This record gives sequence, C-alpha cells and structure tokens, in this order.
Amino acid sequence: MENRIFSVAIDGPSGAGKSTVAKGVAKRLGVVYVDTGAMYRAMGLKAVRLGIPADCAEQVIPILDATDISLGFSEGAQHVFLDGEDVTGLIRTQEISNAASKVSAIPEVRRKMVGLQQKLAERTSLTMDGRDICSYVLPNAEYKFYVTASPDARTSRRYKELAEKGSLNGMTFGELLLEMHERDARDSGRECMPLKKAPDAILIDTTYLSIEESIEAVMRCIKE
Ligand code: DC
Repeated sequence: MENRIFSVAIDGPSGAGKSTVAKGVAKRLGVVYVDTGAMYRAMGLKAVRLGIPADCAEQVIPILDATDISLGFSEGAQHVFLDGEDVTGLIRTQEISNAASKVSAIPEVRRKMVGLQQKLAERTSLTMDGRDICSYVLPNAEYKFYVTASPDARTSRRYKELAEKGSLNGMTFGELLLEMHERDARDSGRECMPLKKAPDAILIDTTYLSIEESIEAVMRCIKE
C-alpha cells in the first residue's frame, strides 16, 4: 500500500483474537507483526525461573538491567529471546500468563519494553498488538483499533486452545473464566499504562465474528 513507514496499533483484552487479527492484517499488508505480550511473558518467565514473585517490584526491578529481551523475525514468525535464549515455545502456559500480567504492572518493566517497541516501529512498517499500543507506545500510529469480545467468548476460545494442546491440566471453564476476569481487572486496573480503549481507536467486537471476518473488518477500515 504505502511506501512510507506506517503502524497499525491494536489493543484489547486477552482472548479477544487481537493477535490472530494483527497477524492476519500484517500478512495482507506485507508488514511485520509484533506481539508485545511476548516480551512481558519473557520477563514473567525470568521471574518464575529465579523464583521471584512476579508482582514484587522490589525484587523484579533489580534484575531488569541485567535482563536482555529482544525480538527476532524469521519467515514472518516472531521469536522472543530472553538473555539470548529463544523462549518462544515456553511462554504460553497459564503460569507465565499470570506472571506476565503481574510484571507488566511494574512501571520500570513497562518503560523498558515500551522503549524497545518504539524503536522497532521507527525502523519498519508493522502491526503491533498489546494493551497500551494506541495510547502510549504508538500514539501517532496511522491506524488504531481496539479488538474485544465478551468474557464468555474469550474464555471459550482460550479453553478450546488449551484443550487442543492438552494443557488444561484439569482446569474447568469456570476457573478459566475467573482467571480471565482477574487478568482483565489487573491489566485495566493498574496505574501505569492500563488497558483501555484509546478515544481514536476503532472498536472491533469479534464475539460473533470468525477470524476471517475480524481481519476483513480491520482491513475495510484501513482501506477506507
Ligand atoms: O497479550 P498477552 O496475553 O500475551 O499478554 C501477556 C500479559 O502482558 C497481559 O496480561 C498484559 C501484559 N501486556 C501489557 O501489559 N502490555 C502489552 N503491550 C502487552 C501485554
């Protein structure tokens, strides 16, 4: 489409389908897809590995400077590196989801990640998804979206995903729904850069949309 560098910023709660949408839109536009949640997940993994409570700023902040988190891209897929190790396959468990949500509430952690994310967007056109992309990371993004869905729909998707991977570990739908509410409350309720819809972001509700329909909804807005 355009020759100049541009950004598509996508925010939303977990399970709303924003990463699938952001990935699909990136493919259609021929640009890089950046999943910022993976960076917080890598930081959460570091805390878990060190046995540090992920919500304890006093213990997390001192390890920040010595922690190297970076992203690499090969054949359109993002890889996240923690201190040089590719941890892409280790960060999708419930334990790490919760640790990521906790470390992401620490302002010093956010500042470090946001700096890295802004540098990426300066260099290349991309779609970037997260919680604070439209409001804080890329406030001047050319295109901004807030992708959401009902808590039930989001939990159902997560439940299905975990069941397919055989990773439910006895967890019930009700327990997953409760965790989803807890994460939502933590992500939206934190003081520093909370999850919220930026006033100029276009709302896309995917509750009753398929993946293709959700991608199409975003693409239509971009073309307009
Ligand atoms: O998108 P995700 O579920 O992979 O994100 C993991 C956690 O990281 C989520 O609970 C909130 C946090 N996060 C954030 O605070 N800001 C972002 N830009 C991306 C994720």
